[in-house]
Amino acid sequence: MNDIKVKVNNLNLFYSGKQALKNISLEMETNRVTALIGPSGCGKSTFIRTLNRMNELIRGVKIRGEVKIDGQNIYDSSVDVVSLRKKIGMVFQKANLFPKSIYDNLVYGPKINGLRNKKKLNEVVEKTLKYAALWDEVKDRLNSSALSLSGGQQQRLCIARALTIEPEIILMDEPASALDPIATAKIEELIFELKKNYTVVIVTHNMQQAARVSDQTAFFYVGELIEFDKTTKIFTNPSKKQTEDYISGRFG
Ligand SMILES: Nc1ncnc2c1ncn2[C@@H]1O[C@H](COP(=O)(O)OP(=O)(O)O)[C@@H](O)[C@H]1O
Ligand SMILES: [Mg+2]
Repeated sequence: MNDIKVKVNNLNLFYSGKQALKNISLEMETNRVTALIGPSGCGKSTFIRTLNRMNELIRGVKIRGEVKIDGQNIYDSSVDVVSLRKKIGMVFQKANLFPKSIYDNLVYGPKINGLRNKKKLNEVVEKTLKYAALWDEVKDRLNSSALSLSGGQQQRLCIARALTIEPEIILMDEPASALDPIATAKIEELIFELKKNYTVVIVTHNMQQAARVSDQTAFFYVGELIEFDKTTKIFTNPSKKQTEDYISGRFG
């Protein structure tokens, strides 16, 4: 067993009084991929956003309970949100690149963090693009607009950009749901690479994808964590009837 990277204890979240997460507890190990599955509106995005305190940007949100990363509760008043977010990269369903060059998208975070040395910035660009399996496709056009890339390339660039701040955890909220099967397969291969160096959490409504890429799977249903176990167990022999109904396509 690897170290526990993320430990969630009795987490509850309310949007303006309406409960969206109910008493969630689970653990994620370092260098593992955890998939969050469940029907639309069940709280997957809400949950993944609690891991980097992104829900705080939404008015009227109340959070009770703990999210421990490396043993520290990120909701403690002493925690600095800026340094917390440096530990955590996030990738969304829609590529959210800046309308700037490929190069500028990648050096944005490191520059904000104070890196000025041109040679070092170039190294970050090359390293993260290679990691995201995008270097060969874009190395001759680093100054072209990031928005000129295909949807799949843009999403891999978002992943490369997430890596530029040297995070420890990568959160992905349906990163491939807008992509064609070939681009999706590339993202899945990349997730496999990512887990060698990072702890990965991925929301997906594609169950085959969850089964392919993840080590453990959490099944959410109307704000509750119904079942959390090894992915093979969830997909071959789930303990709960609701999980079985969902993975066999009986609802959702
Ligand atoms: N910003 C928000 N303000 C109020 N309610 C929200 C907000 N975001 C999500 N919700 C509600 O919380 C519940 C869970 O939503 P969400 O986490 O987006 O689910 P999922 O990602 O599984 O589709 C839904 O009922 C949704 O309407
Ligand atoms: Mg969602």
